[in-house]
Amino acid sequence: MSRILRIDASARYDGSVTRDLSDRLARKLAGTGVAITVRDLAEAPPAFVDAAWVDANFTDPAQRSDAQRAELAASDMLVEELEAADRIVIGVPVYNFAIPAVLKAWVDQIARARRTFRYTEKGPEGLLKGKTAWLVVASGGTPVEGEIDYATPYLKHVLGFVGINDVRVVDAGRWGSRTEAEQAEVIEALEQAAAKAA
Ligand SMILES: Cc1cc2nc3c(=O)[nH]c(=O)nc-3n(C[C@H](O)[C@H](O)[C@H](O)COP(=O)(O)O)c2cc1C
Repeated sequence: MSRILRIDASARYDGSVTRDLSDRLARKLAGTGVAITVRDLAEAPPAFVDAAWVDANFTDPAQRSDAQRAELAASDMLVEELEAADRIVIGVPVYNFAIPAVLKAWVDQIARARRTFRYTEKGPEGLLKGKTAWLVVASGGTPVEGEIDYATPYLKHVLGFVGINDVRVVDAGRWGSRTEAEQAEVIEALEQAAAKAA
């Protein structure tokens, strides 16, 4: 299996730093012949979990009604998309020191007991093995992985929780404060790292 899943969460299209850098990264990782699936969360935001969803999720799969299966259909699709990818590129605009709501909604849809994680006697075990995730994190003033960045550590943790422990961060923090030469350096480093990992 070799498939790249690129996830976009920026509300912006024109001038979006995360969309531009994620596009460059995914293309470089793909080289020739590797398929890229694009999941644009801003264009089609995942639903928030509600009582019916929780009820369906915690019902034994063999016992689910048609309505409960329908309730989980979109979540199943997002999980299958993730399972099918060995490399995942996530564009992460820092919104109010954390992740955009559409990305949190996606996390809530893919964190599924018995599908993407399970509890064992030794504690929780992530079930999505052998994957690498790249977080392309852009901000206005918040330093990426600094003490007020709640986006990057949260995503690292939750991806690890579902079994994705190889998480690499592209630091596009304080993007607008960087000179063109500094921005070009980030792009150059990103493309080199991607070419090495391709
Ligand atoms: C709703 C909103 C909230 C934001 N909150 C923060 C923030 O807390 N810290 C920060 O450094 N930048 C913040 N920004 C700036 C964005 O992180 C920055 O513009 C980044 O480039 C967005 O990614 P994009 O270019 O892909 O849209 C915010 C932007 C928006 C639209």
